[in-house]
Amino acid sequence: MHIPSQPYSNALIRQKCLDVSIIRLDLSHPQISGNKWFKLEPVLKRSLASCTRRPLLSFGGCYSNHLHALAYAGYHYGIPTIGVVRGERPCPLNATLQDAESWGMALHFVSRQEYRNKTHPDFTQALYEQFGDFELIPEGGSSPEAVLSCANIGSFLAVSDFDYVLCPLGTGATAAGLLLGKPKNCHLIVVPALQISAQEARSMLSQHLAEMSQPMPEGLTVLDGTLPYGKINAELAALWYKTSRLWDPLYTLRMYQAFCRLVMSDTFPQGSRIALFHTGGMQGVRGCKSKIERLAPEFQGPLPL
Ligand SMILES: Cc1ncc(COP(=O)(O)O)c(C=O)c1O
Repeated sequence: MHIPSQPYSNALIRQKCLDVSIIRLDLSHPQISGNKWFKLEPVLKRSLASCTRRPLLSFGGCYSNHLHALAYAGYHYGIPTIGVVRGERPCPLNATLQDAESWGMALHFVSRQEYRNKTHPDFTQALYEQFGDFELIPEGGSSPEAVLSCANIGSFLAVSDFDYVLCPLGTGATAAGLLLGKPKNCHLIVVPALQISAQEARSMLSQHLAEMSQPMPEGLTVLDGTLPYGKINAELAALWYKTSRLWDPLYTLRMYQAFCRLVMSDTFPQGSRIALFHTGGMQGVRGCKSKIERLAPEFQGPLPL
């Protein structure tokens, strides 16, 4: 796959003499964009190679980028898909779920309480009773094979010779893959998109690697996650406009905000070559656009640009 990379600059970056690129995984495909193709590729390949084409079942919230990409992939490749969605069926369906349903995904809504227990064997058994045979894809598509697939992005990093790479973290599968695939001299900086300590985020990464019996490679910094998942504050909202709506507010904009703070605190030596991973998620903006519009004018302070 061709991975587009774009030079990126602004006054702060020029002042600090940094060489920054954005790895535009978000441009790789209109529907299966960002990290989604890498995470889904192994399961799609397996399904296409089998003659049975078992339905693919997975989990997500009502604006899930993962379910959206899975629904489209199923539609494109002729594989049935089932989405187990957290919470009640919205009426009318939101844009993400409308897309998913129009691509043939069977939507199954469960209460937040049930969703929390989604990995419990009784819950899985009830799903088998309801839907018959299916292949289960964990939430966010984050399986060991997805981690290995994300490691392939590392070969791109090797060619491009970056000193630092920044990546957002949800389940940690993408970052764990990058960690496995990155060249030794490239330092990975991981920015959680949820409110967890750096230590908790690091242990998510070690857990992914342990599942594949891989030790933790060197060259990793994990930051604290400062905002709860899905939360947007006035600063983020204002930053979204300031960066010309380039980033998705839930994952990559937080990474960009953290990057700016690291630049301002002189973390990167002059001349550093830095890559920011745009992991996609732009379809999800439809779920928070009105919140951004409402919050952005409330922001008073200087933006980290
Ligand atoms: C746009 C976007 N970026 C980053 C992530 C985080 O990826 P991961 O769950 O592999 O940490 C997600 C979630 O899958 C996402 O939708």
